Amino acid sequence: MNLEETDNKENMLQQAGALFLRRFGRQPAHISLAPGRINLIGEHTDYNGGLSLPSAINRWIATAMAPRKDRMVIIRSENFDQELAFSLNDNLKPRRHWEKYVLGILEVFAHIGNEDMGFDALIVGNVPLGAGLSSSAALEISLLNSLQYHYQAELTKMKVCKMCQTVEIYKLGLRSGLLDQWASQLSHKESALFIDFFQGKIEPVALPAGEISWVVVHSGVERKLAGSRYMDRVEETLMGLNELKLRLPGTSHLRDISLEQLETIRTQAVWKSRVRHFITENERVIEFRKSLTQSDFRRAGELMLSSHDSLKEDYQVSCAELDFLVEAAQTVEGCLGSRMMGGGFGGCTLNLVQNEKTGEFTKGITRLFQEKFSKNPKIFKFFPESGAQVFPFQD
Ligand code: GLA
Repeated sequence: MNLEETDNKENMLQQAGALFLRRFGRQPAHISLAPGRINLIGEHTDYNGGLSLPSAINRWIATAMAPRKDRMVIIRSENFDQELAFSLNDNLKPRRHWEKYVLGILEVFAHIGNEDMGFDALIVGNVPLGAGLSSSAALEISLLNSLQYHYQAELTKMKVCKMCQTVEIYKLGLRSGLLDQWASQLSHKESALFIDFFQGKIEPVALPAGEISWVVVHSGVERKLAGSRYMDRVEETLMGLNELKLRLPGTSHLRDISLEQLETIRTQAVWKSRVRHFITENERVIEFRKSLTQSDFRRAGELMLSSHDSLKEDYQVSCAELDFLVEAAQTVEGCLGSRMMGGGFGGCTLNLVQNEKTGEFTKGITRLFQEKFSKNPKIFKFFPESGAQVFPFQD
């Protein structure tokens, strides 16, 4: 079977502790875990103050850390098998991609001004990279929570998320929203998070275990956000808002506009379909949440399919491989719904599958993918997990 069953928290903690011991010859003082996420619905809405329904998953980035008496810092990335060593006095420039995140986080944290002692840190994770499962946000949150614990800084969970977003914007050049960081930091076990980014409101929504599974299928196309068309979408929706302000007096936000109002505007401009996605996706999030609470999974599945159509047609962030997977999933037994997930242009589809049919679904989608692309897809079954935590380390 081609299904990657995922790990649990205890294994991750043990692994990070053992690797730290091997590298630094002592135990870490604490281990900070931050999970990746899936997003059930509500895609490309966060940066415009829309609605989303993500959930953290049982895959994590762990930062194991222990203090040093000098002002030296050694950070090892286990996944890249690379290290950074410097003094807190140094003004280091990142050379490799992962260093942009790590040094970016250190820089935003240093603004707080707590840096008398150094530290040894080891970062290791099992969130698949470049798959749209928010490995970057998990890395940022894991490291920043770890630094906060180490230096006993007082930062709210929300503030930590905001600081991580700052790193994305200023160090990675990506004007993304807060979906990934909030999901990683604030999720509740066995729940999804209903997020209203406009009001800054978060409500856990219980995810019924037993009846359904969340199965993620990788398209094989690595998702590269920075410099991609993601930024175009941010610009296009901003342009849409400016146009709407001129045409519909009283508009100050995309959330003020109804679909009926939008459709009264005659224009071929691309911003109209981008805004249409924003409006209809928000409506789908509300209905999806309702269908989850009523255990109406058929309806939830239908909403995922229309979310995909909207992302494909109106928002144009899908790709041929993702479209193929969503089409194919609908022909496989046990699949209730399927859609592209995350930033798009590659990465994964999320599939809502009847629990007892997970095996059939995995076999079916593997066969179809193989026929089309002559290779095996990576398939994961994730469980909704709680958000980031710091564990004082015990042997
Ligand atoms: C990426 C970004 C998020 C969000 C999603 C799309 O994951 O980091 O902020 O915009 O894409 O929903």
